[in-house]
Amino acid sequence: MSQTPALYANLDKYIQGVRNEFEEKLATLVETPSISMDPERKDDIQRCGETAAEFLRGIGAEAEVIPTPGNPVVVGSIVTDPNNPTVTIYNHLDVQPADASEWHKAPFTFYKVGDRYEGRGTTDDKGPALTAMLAAKYAVENGVPLNVKFIWELEEEIGSPNFEGFVKSNRDRLRTDSVLVSDTIWIARGKPAVPYGLRGLQAVTLKLETHAKDVHSGLVGGAARNPIGELCQLIAQCYDARTGRVKIKGFYDDVRPVTKAELASFTNSGFSTAQYKKAHELRSIRPNLKSDADVLKAFMALPTFEVHGIVGGYSGPGVKTIVPHHAEAKISMRLVPNQNPKKVAKLVKDFIRQISPDVKVSFEHALEPFLGDFTGPYADAARAAMKFAFGKEPAFTREGGSIGAVVTMQDYLKAPITFLGLSLPEHGYHAKNENYDWGQTAGGIRMFTKYFEEIARLRK
Ligand code: BES
Ligand code: MN
Ligand code: MN
Repeated sequence: MSQTPALYANLDKYIQGVRNEFEEKLATLVETPSISMDPERKDDIQRCGETAAEFLRGIGAEAEVIPTPGNPVVVGSIVTDPNNPTVTIYNHLDVQPADASEWHKAPFTFYKVGDRYEGRGTTDDKGPALTAMLAAKYAVENGVPLNVKFIWELEEEIGSPNFEGFVKSNRDRLRTDSVLVSDTIWIARGKPAVPYGLRGLQAVTLKLETHAKDVHSGLVGGAARNPIGELCQLIAQCYDARTGRVKIKGFYDDVRPVTKAELASFTNSGFSTAQYKKAHELRSIRPNLKSDADVLKAFMALPTFEVHGIVGGYSGPGVKTIVPHHAEAKISMRLVPNQNPKKVAKLVKDFIRQISPDVKVSFEHALEPFLGDFTGPYADAARAAMKFAFGKEPAFTREGGSIGAVVTMQDYLKAPITFLGLSLPEHGYHAKNENYDWGQTAGGIRMFTKYFEEIARLRK
């Protein structure tokens, strides 16, 4: 029974009434291009943080924009009663870059068509952040006995390089009984998912310079080394590009095999390979993946080796007959429990040094994988909240993506972490024409409200 009878009686009215405010606030955030990867956007990052803190003050929270050696972190707090339990809501407000020429409308202009909202950051992760904020406001104002804290990060998309330092120096103010992360994706519209794991990441850049300048291939071709060809060959020695199988010795040693129960939970999620291909516009997938279960395992529970880009030489119009002098490859590996980024980095470094000692190897983002639990009171609350809001129990899945802050929060805040995401495959994470929608917002406010009421009963 609810301690707060008005909570559910007035919820739909609240949701309808708050729609304009949601859209205006989302427009303001989207039109602040908080691209963490772009050093030219420092002012926008700061402005985004200040605006977000104002939004938090607007719902009655105390809020602050806390500087770090990199981008700031926005924190907020609503204390209803020090004796009530506290939930901390994590979102990120930084976004990926956007190539305007690919989009059908300007990426940093908020564009609304019916129930659909377009713009960079709408679904990742500004829309879900505002959805959770507006639900928290409603829950607290309607007597849900819960304290609510907010952590809005502004460097998630670059691997959260300063998050650990931030948490370390703010441990007291971040004390919490549980953490709620809203930055994950469903299986499909109408098929909610509650992930209990994330992949980690180790990024690596390979550079090879074999001579001082590009030279006529009629003069040196045959004698000079070709750095692009050599990097391609090296990459082919690292992994089988057709199957994705990594050939670096020891790479799979620490991979925790997926359990039968996990695989059953993945395959009961309503996932279909056909729908997955359609949502992401994939024409074909790897030929060794024979079933839905194979596909699910490949992006939820197995590590990867991925080449993001190779540069060097000439790629303009026509043919330019040179031997390039330099090549660079950007690569990353998604990691799964119980792989360790440092250990993997060492394996890669040793492997490459052995084959190509003059390739320069440098490591960037290193994120540990995360594995939580899909049983216990918080998972039960998540299940109840999804069912209440969307009429359907969620599938417990693991995400193929990474959120650097999660392992740090687990290590330092020592509180259970629950993922209640609202993004859909067709919302286009990191893609052109990224979007979010009112259906997920309205359902999301219902979901969070129910979740807050459920976890408020888990007395301290
Ligand atoms: N929201 C995503 C994480 C995510 C991706 C969750 C896919 C579920 C499915 C997050 O914003 C993200 O994009 N993370 C980056 C981190 C990286 C740049 C260090 C990622 O996973 O590539
Ligand atoms: Mn995100
Ligand atoms: Mn992202």
